[in-house]
Amino acid sequence: MHLSKEFGLLLLLILWRLISVIVVRTAHVPDEYWQSLEVAHRLAFGYGYLTWEWTTMIRSYMYPFLIAILYRILAKLSLDYILLLTMLPRVFQAILVAYADYRFYQWTKNKWMLISLCLNPFWYYCATRTLINSVETACTIIALSIHPILGRAISRLSLKYMWIVGFLCMIRPTAAIMWLPLCYIHIYCLRYIRCDALEKKLLPGRCVLICFTCAIISILVDCYCYGTFVITPWKFFQTNVLKNVGNTYGIKHWLWYIYIALPVLLGLHFFPFLISFYSIYKQSFFLAKEGIMLGIICWTLLIYSSLSHKEFRFILPLLPLLICTSFTSLKYLNINANVRKRIIAMFMCSNIIIGLFISMIHQRGTLTIMADLRNEITRTNTSLTDTLILTPCHSTPLYSHLHVNISIRFLTCEPNLSNTENYIDEADQFFANATVWLRDNYINNVKVMLPTYVIAFDKIASEISEFLGTYKLIAKEFYTYRSLTVGNYGENILLYKRV
Ligand SMILES: *[C@@H]1O[C@H](CO)[C@@H](O)[C@H](O)[C@H]1NC(C)=O
Ligand SMILES: *[C@@H]1O[C@H](CO)[C@@H](O)[C@H](O)[C@H]1NC(C)=O
Ligand SMILES: *[C@@H]1O[C@H](CO)[C@@H](O)[C@H](O)[C@H]1NC(C)=O
Ligand SMILES: *[C@@H]1O[C@H](CO)[C@@H](O)[C@H](O)[C@H]1NC(C)=O
Repeated sequence: MHLSKEFGLLLLLILWRLISVIVVRTAHVPDEYWQSLEVAHRLAFGYGYLTWEWTTMIRSYMYPFLIAILYRILAKLSLDYILLLTMLPRVFQAILVAYADYRFYQWTKNKWMLISLCLNPFWYYCATRTLINSVETACTIIALSIHPILGRAISRLSLKYMWIVGFLCMIRPTAAIMWLPLCYIHIYCLRYIRCDALEKKLLPGRCVLICFTCAIISILVDCYCYGTFVITPWKFFQTNVLKNVGNTYGIKHWLWYIYIALPVLLGLHFFPFLISFYSIYKQSFFLAKEGIMLGIICWTLLIYSSLSHKEFRFILPLLPLLICTSFTSLKYLNINANVRKRIIAMFMCSNIIIGLFISMIHQRGTLTIMADLRNEITRTNTSLTDTLILTPCHSTPLYSHLHVNISIRFLTCEPNLSNTENYIDEADQFFANATVWLRDNYINNVKVMLPTYVIAFDKIASEISEFLGTYKLIAKEFYTYRSLTVGNYGENILLYKRV
């Protein structure tokens, strides 16, 4: 009876996340395609585009490799339809996340915390995306739930979580920021635990062995996929820390995580989170676990804040800890149970509206336009089409959503890798003066033909109407509302065909 109830919960969570695979149909950031599906597509089918991260070898192939295996199986079964190629990786992701949700409940044993994890709008929005940050968050939740000090490991000496952490740190070196202190706390606390002395002595050795195994496996996968010997975390460190290439992608204020990212990630939960500092300070003796959590959160935010490149999704792995600590203050604030329930219900409702908007409406067009292009190519049955995408770099996915080997040109935005003086990336050159760029690259360039298809946002399309004179508009997709457009994005995204 007990077992079947737990199993029922797991099924319910899987269903919840599978529904989100269907509900979430917008694009969030380029990385969800360009660092996973595109790479996997190239690995599995032999054509595709690799961004500079892959040519400089700073990314681990582990995740795309798994997707590529899936693609190869689909290809073997002649089931490599677009729908499956784009959806199936997300379905697996949904199952992983549902399992993480389940472990979260096993860990906290608090249904309100589980509900608030499941309804967190930003996590709902990201969870089923093929983003490495989503994998990282799901794995972090699972590892936390079996962490011997914070979680509910069977034995204080259990090192199972170390396997997950080992792979995580190889795949995403920044995961170490959060996990190094947690591993240290585990080892440190063992001093005060009475147990078999021999086992205690063997522990460091076992740790090293696990980390070593994880490292070897992921290095082997990388060597196989890159075709050369490479240690990607080291390359990552060299490029991002020593050369500071990340700066190219925007520098934000050092308090950005505190005053923008946390409120957005937590919604109204942000207030109980702030109060939790006070309640943990007051009750420090009873709340050792929460104190550790708060320490980890502060430490991770501190390190991330000192890095110039900041994004919302980087702090997603902190979400389980943030939820746990913010609930502590609700628990200790001595609020009447009924009022507390009402407050929580209010949090949830505010979340649902935001969640649905960003999942279904905002930034939808870049995906639907690729479906239009794909239909157009299938309909005309020619592989000789030439497409030009004039959007900010990587705003649309590419071969993973087309699955035909056509020639495509899009505006790139590589960082200053070759160390050229006064370097301006291609996208910036284009948007500085589109007419000039098109004249230099197409109209006055006898070596290239005019492309058959052109994709552009409405904003830029009106600027280059002269160039588009010989083109006919064949599809128009809604992207977002005018008041929400930023930079060189527009309200609608358009597909033109040469007449
Ligand atoms: C894809 O097309 C390019 C250019 O036409 C060609 O060089 C390449 O061999 C093709 N790849 C595959 C796997 O068909
Ligand atoms: C598409 O063209 C190829 C040859 O280029 C032909 O073999 C195939 O039958 C065509 N398919 C359709 C649906 O017209
Ligand atoms: C590109 O790198 C070179 C060499 O490090 C530097 O002199 C130049 O200013 C850089 N250009 C830009 C735009 O950052
Ligand atoms: C782009 O350059 C052309 C020719 O140099 C000029 O006529 C036009 O005004 C420029 N457009 C913008 C938006 O700067």
